[in-house]
Amino acid sequence: MDKQTVTAPNLLASALQTLSNRQKALDPKWFYDHRGSELFEDITKLPEYYPTRTETAILSTHARRIAANITDGAVLIELGSGASVKTRLLLDAAPQLATYAPVDISAQFLQGVAAQLQTDYLSLEVTPIVADFMSPISLPAHLLDRDLIVFFPGSTIGNLTSDAAIGLLRSVRDLGRVRAMVVGADLAKDATVLVDAYDDATGTTAAFNKNLLYRLNREAGANFDVEKFHHEARWNEDLSRIEMHLVSRTTQIVDLGGCSFHFKEGESIHTENSHKYTRNSLSELAEAGGWYVTDWLTDPQDLFSVSVLVPH
Ligand code: SAH
Ligand code: AVI
Repeated sequence: MDKQTVTAPNLLASALQTLSNRQKALDPKWFYDHRGSELFEDITKLPEYYPTRTETAILSTHARRIAANITDGAVLIELGSGASVKTRLLLDAAPQLATYAPVDISAQFLQGVAAQLQTDYLSLEVTPIVADFMSPISLPAHLLDRDLIVFFPGSTIGNLTSDAAIGLLRSVRDLGRVRAMVVGADLAKDATVLVDAYDDATGTTAAFNKNLLYRLNREAGANFDVEKFHHEARWNEDLSRIEMHLVSRTTQIVDLGGCSFHFKEGESIHTENSHKYTRNSLSELAEAGGWYVTDWLTDPQDLFSVSVLVPH
């Protein structure tokens, strides 16, 4: 079954709802069709996009320390696994793991990544789960009585509102016998560094952002004239987040699902938030979600953090 097509009705309903808000918006989870997942991988290699290489360095340095939280025969569940590149550092450091269960909404991309991992890690059971991690995740029955470690890297937590992040943290506790959660979170820093990371010189992030509109055209029958929108990254100091927007270059009307959406020149669609944390703000979020931080790992420049959380 083609999961990309199956998601289309949800995509349409979600887009109709959020484009009707006073500040037009789209849910960032819709970035990730197969093309969106590929574009994200391109972003991770950009010189301006420091998060991936910094988190990789932290994980390389501390993989064994993190792996010490993993019991024999445990299951590593990863939320928003993407290409599972950094995960390999944990898999290599924790041969005691029996199962790796990557969870991702980008169905076709996930299946390809999981098949390659299974080839590369023959003694590990790789069990991909195509799911929206904001809905209750049902684990295969044979994983229910096992120790679980949940890996949530990449600062994907930062793409959620704090209420949504708290809800997710709480629901992870209900997955089963979760021993620990390992969370990658980007840290607040100079606004220029942040804006450059989300508005790179090659226009890769712009293409990632615009892919949302192409996707709505492809899968939901919209008629966006994509080049009549431009990509913008804004630092919102008050809310400590980078916002991505698609800004209308002109007055225009876009049709979607039988509705017409009117844009003024300069009016934007808000497509993503990427929250940037401090040690305190992340600890507070974790505590509100029912966890406390037992290990706080960063790079020498304090650009990014990896923390180990245990349930209250
Ligand atoms: N963990 C990888 C990829 C991060 S990109 C890394 O650190 O590099 C974010 C990933 O989360 C994408 O693969 C995307 O498809 C997935 N994702 C985003 N929202 C999701 C949701 N609501 N449910 C499941 N997966 C989601
Ligand atoms: C997946 N997520 C954490 C990325 C981020 O940095 O917020 C998505 C992204 N958006 C633009 N560039 C990367």
